[in-house]
Amino acid sequence: MCGIVGYIGKKQAAPVLIEGLYKLEYRGYDSVGIAVSDGEELRIVKRIGRVKEIECARRERGTVGIGHTRWATNGGVSVENAHPHSYKNIVLVHNGIIENAEKLKYDLLAKGEKFYSETDSEVIAHLIADAYSGDLLGAVMRACSQLTGSYALAVFSTDEPRMLVCARMHSPLIVGKAKEGLVVASDIPAVAEKDARLYTLNDGEFAKLEGDELLFFSAAGRRIGKDTIEFDLNEGCVEWNGRHFMRKEIDEIPKVLQASRLEIENDSCFSDFYKVLCQTEYIQIVACGTAYHSGLCLKSAMERICRVPTEVCIASEYRYSDPIVAKGTLLIAISQSGETADTIAAVRLAKKRGAYVAAVVNVRYSSLTRLADVVLYTQAGREVAVAATKSFNAQLIALYSIAETVASVKGVKAPSLTGLARKAAETIAISETVRSWTPYFVGAKSAYFIGRGADMCAALEGSLKLKEISYLPSEGYAAGELKHGTLALIEPYTPVVAIITRRDIAQKTMNAVREAYSRGAVIFLVTCFKEFCDEKEVTASVLIPKCPPDYSPILSVIPLQLLAYYTSVARGNDPDKPRNLAKSVTVE
Ligand code: M6R
Repeated sequence: MCGIVGYIGKKQAAPVLIEGLYKLEYRGYDSVGIAVSDGEELRIVKRIGRVKEIECARRERGTVGIGHTRWATNGGVSVENAHPHSYKNIVLVHNGIIENAEKLKYDLLAKGEKFYSETDSEVIAHLIADAYSGDLLGAVMRACSQLTGSYALAVFSTDEPRMLVCARMHSPLIVGKAKEGLVVASDIPAVAEKDARLYTLNDGEFAKLEGDELLFFSAAGRRIGKDTIEFDLNEGCVEWNGRHFMRKEIDEIPKVLQASRLEIENDSCFSDFYKVLCQTEYIQIVACGTAYHSGLCLKSAMERICRVPTEVCIASEYRYSDPIVAKGTLLIAISQSGETADTIAAVRLAKKRGAYVAAVVNVRYSSLTRLADVVLYTQAGREVAVAATKSFNAQLIALYSIAETVASVKGVKAPSLTGLARKAAETIAISETVRSWTPYFVGAKSAYFIGRGADMCAALEGSLKLKEISYLPSEGYAAGELKHGTLALIEPYTPVVAIITRRDIAQKTMNAVREAYSRGAVIFLVTCFKEFCDEKEVTASVLIPKCPPDYSPILSVIPLQLLAYYTSVARGNDPDKPRNLAKSVTVE
């Protein structure tokens, strides 16, 4: 949610900021802006839209600057609400939500101060300006002490134009020394370069970047030291000349599954994780969105194979549900980004209540990795498209590996996970046929995805994918539940996608298919059983390779990801950057 970047050094700041913003665009892309200063004059350029809209600002002169790409929270999408915000001598960019902004603004208005935007961020600029008396760091510290909520800030003062001050509370921030200057950003790739020394700021900490000196301060204002973080320069390399990242990322699934198995076999972290898992009698999972669906898939496998009771909670519900954390609970937090605010808050609460926390995360050094007792990294590599695809499959193979290991400790025979990479490649090849299904979806009013057991988990994910990038209302449903209400929504030509990968309950799902077909639905089938493809109710089908039914979402989701992709493209959308969404959801 919002990307921030800052630079102070020998080079011209504007090109550095714009390049950094391109790498942060996944965090939000409704408006964008930079502010640069050459010590004399301050220039602010803000536009609605994506980073390319401020290409014209590259030539603005100044060796200090800050930039922002926005995902609107407080205040609509407008140039006024775009960052940077300035008040008197203070200019800032902010990522997060200030929960007491209304109250603070009320007090500032009563003092006669004027506001030009609807944002909570502008309130912070006022607080800092009011607290400023020649010491920017002190003013930022005093202003932050009045804030409730989340923030990552990069601030400069036109009175001290050789200095940037940064602060962090529940929103990620990286600060560092590059070859020719000091840098700050929401995420590593925006500032990573060879030999750069990068540091993460923790909640409540501040950084002062001045000349070529980088100083860190605790919440109490004491100087603190920090260890550099390691980073992989290639992680930021996401240049690609193809049409859409989402399509490329689906194609990478076999490679990701292969890498995941190798990592699991070789990584000592996994064995630590397994030791804990093997002693656990009860598992709670917290996650959001696609990661929540991965959690549902693990529950299904863990309970059916290992008989370990497993509860899956939507993180935003868990954090306010006064959850029971029984002694010996293992909490598994699943997150691609490792920065999802709701998941992080759920983890904090569970830890406070005594849970042992294992994080299944894709992004290194993300906030969740620092909170967890043990981290299991998924091997998806960098995922650029907002819609999660390969990261879901990477989560599944990591989670199923856990179930496989628990089973072996319990002396239960678990199905084998081998060969899934090859089968995923076959599935991608076969599923290309879903492109021919798109005419049925493009003009539809709504669509439904149904299945039972693990197939229902795949149905939920298929439905989320479709609505997220095609903007077509869609529901994922337990096949047996359709007749309890939702069947009323089926009209002639309503597309219904059924997923059938478990022999013992296949006919039960087919009952729901027939009920929908009788009401005029057009039925599409994803299955590993040839005979169902030939049923008269089925308009079109994808026959995926057979795999153990408890693991089947790893394959059955692929045609659904492709269906969402092709429908999105056919509806004229940008599947990589769906409206109103961002890749990393760092606010509540
Ligand atoms: O980074 P996380 O895995 O924690 O993100 C959770 C959700 O925001 C995310 O999975 C979202 O639902 C996806 N964009 C869906 O494709």
